[in-house]
Amino acid sequence: MTTYKTEFQHSIDHPESFWAEQARRIPWFTPPTTILEYDEQRHARWFVDGELNICHAALDHHVEQGRGEQPALFWDSPVTASKRTLTYRELRDDVARFAGALKGLGVEKGDRVVIYMPMVPEALMAMYACARLGAVHSVVFGGFAPHELAVRIDDAKPKVVVAASCGIEVDRVIPYKPILDDAIAQSAHQPDACVILQREQQPAPLGERDHDWATLVTEAEPAECVPVKGSDPLYVLYTSGTTGKPKGVVRDTGGYAVALHYSMETIYDVAPGEVFFSASDVGWVVGHSYIVYAPLLRGCTTVVYEGKPVKTPDAGAFWRLISEYRVKSFFTAPTAFRAIKKEDPDGKLLAQYDVSCLKALFLAGERLDPPTFHWLDDLLDVPVIDHWWQTETGWPIAANLHGLEPMPTKAGSATVPVPGFDVQILDREGERAEAMEQGSVVIKQPLPPGCLTGIWGDPQRFHSAYMAAFPGYYLTGDGGYFDEDGYLFIMGRTDDVINIAGHRLSTGEMEEVVGAHPAVAECAVIGIHDALKGQVPVGLVIPKDGFEGREADLESELIALVREKIGPIACFKQVLVVDRLPKTRSGKILRKLLRNIADGKEYGVPSTIDDPASLQDVHEAMKDRSVGAAHEARQV
Ligand code: COA
Ligand code: AMP
Repeated sequence: MTTYKTEFQHSIDHPESFWAEQARRIPWFTPPTTILEYDEQRHARWFVDGELNICHAALDHHVEQGRGEQPALFWDSPVTASKRTLTYRELRDDVARFAGALKGLGVEKGDRVVIYMPMVPEALMAMYACARLGAVHSVVFGGFAPHELAVRIDDAKPKVVVAASCGIEVDRVIPYKPILDDAIAQSAHQPDACVILQREQQPAPLGERDHDWATLVTEAEPAECVPVKGSDPLYVLYTSGTTGKPKGVVRDTGGYAVALHYSMETIYDVAPGEVFFSASDVGWVVGHSYIVYAPLLRGCTTVVYEGKPVKTPDAGAFWRLISEYRVKSFFTAPTAFRAIKKEDPDGKLLAQYDVSCLKALFLAGERLDPPTFHWLDDLLDVPVIDHWWQTETGWPIAANLHGLEPMPTKAGSATVPVPGFDVQILDREGERAEAMEQGSVVIKQPLPPGCLTGIWGDPQRFHSAYMAAFPGYYLTGDGGYFDEDGYLFIMGRTDDVINIAGHRLSTGEMEEVVGAHPAVAECAVIGIHDALKGQVPVGLVIPKDGFEGREADLESELIALVREKIGPIACFKQVLVVDRLPKTRSGKILRKLLRNIADGKEYGVPSTIDDPASLQDVHEAMKDRSVGAAHEARQV
């Protein structure tokens, strides 16, 4: 670990000189002279007085440096039987023209633009076009329902919304335009205009405020890059917190560009001209960082995949893509490989492709469970690397630093903290835990470049969610421990956030929806283990006195309600009507106890993904009237 240890220690002892050196590796219009300063909450801000434009750094700069004819992106869409390659020059020109179109609609530096699009090249163009103008984009994942989109529109207050007419889920066309219209009807804030990318699978009728993407672009003049400050916001990305209102994570421009560039070399080990493939979605942080920005900042080619790991057409989809585009470094969520393993347990489909180009496989979004790790490790001749991060940090907090000093892997561990992240484990009293002792995983300030600068429009929530628990530290919301060798093990969330198929969702938000049903007296939503998706939510519901309907009907109504309000991505498909929920003496539902029951920490319900807790066990435990009382006795 010598190289790693030296680099890590330098980043912690001398953060300013460490990151000043990294900052010199990206193109600035005006290089920063102030490297690090702190805001009023003692939270780090990086490169505040530098001036740059991330679209320039990722596109124009490479064209100027002679990469104009290199592919910038390969788009592969088995669901529409389409493929497309765009060179750096073509992408730069398309982005400049779309930026001109947005400018024509009045979008200026600092304005917000909401983007609601599937995995098409135009989604990346829209994001880069915003960046080019210094506007702040906010991408909303396609699997969210109108209400969720409305909440984000009301919070971000966009001048313009950019959407596609439809998305495609395997063989189903999902009309996006009616979802957008419904969301705008529900939101108090009204955007000035909507730009609609018409897809031939289902074009949408356009209303008064709508503009057709193709027409707008034909009429537009290309726009130049607008210089922004290092600390100016690039985007707001909403993520689930513990309440019904999502948190708008704000990302700056300069720190993000520097951190992503550093990670491409140090963690992912990819050089300019090589191909990087991240099978995520532009609606998630992984998509923002490792489909859209990082590969192009580094002069690589990014693969944009509109399809699933399975069924498009089969479980060999990823192997085909890796082979066809000569991918060097591949990144996805463990759940995707659990889906592949289910369909092709012996890896027969892998044998059909030449994947000798692949040098490493990276997994994140949820814990890499040991069975999936071992399956992949046996199947592939390349390192299988679990790395841990969050929407808030924007890039990995802990990883096996493949480009710096590869280390032996331990199943279940994300290996070691990445340089810049002073990760510590604290106990309830805020004391540092010993090796092997579990506690709250925190990061000592200053957080390195690239991490969130705040919550959009809500400094108080930023403080209470991340900074208040342990002053001087950022609270990750995860629990975990270091082993004797300094390897970090992340054991799961300590709050009401759950991880479904690599997607982060809030049980608190689902409870708000379920609790609003007129027949529901009380409810709790918990995550239980699922062999494919890691976790899925289950609603535990007590009907109001006098409820005379059929329980099965109530269950169906609640499932439909969550799908309507939050979206299909919540995977809310199980409701149990129960007699009671364990409570404290003062009447508060013991959520932690419920989580423990589901996790098997109470009543010995099995807790591994391979041996999932059955709903019956949870149900039985709910019926047991002694549960709450026994727990309370222990608390007292
Ligand atoms: N637009 C509209 N609907 C969407 C959607 C989108 N972009 N994405 C998902 N949905 C829908 C699905 O069609 C499904 O609907 P259904 O209930 O009608 O079947 C529902 O939301 C749940 O989707 P999902 O949990 O993704 O289940 P799935 O069975 O379609 O796919 C996996 C399962 C594991 C293959 C898939 O979740 C996957 O590839 N996950 C990897 C996630 C990832 O990359 N995360 C990023 C972090 S690295
Ligand atoms: P998101 O913000 O959607 O990226 O989700 C972040 C959360 O996912 C983290 O707080 C963790 O709980 C979980 N997570 C992500 N990557 C990992 C990993 N490699 N190991 C364990 N948990 C992870």
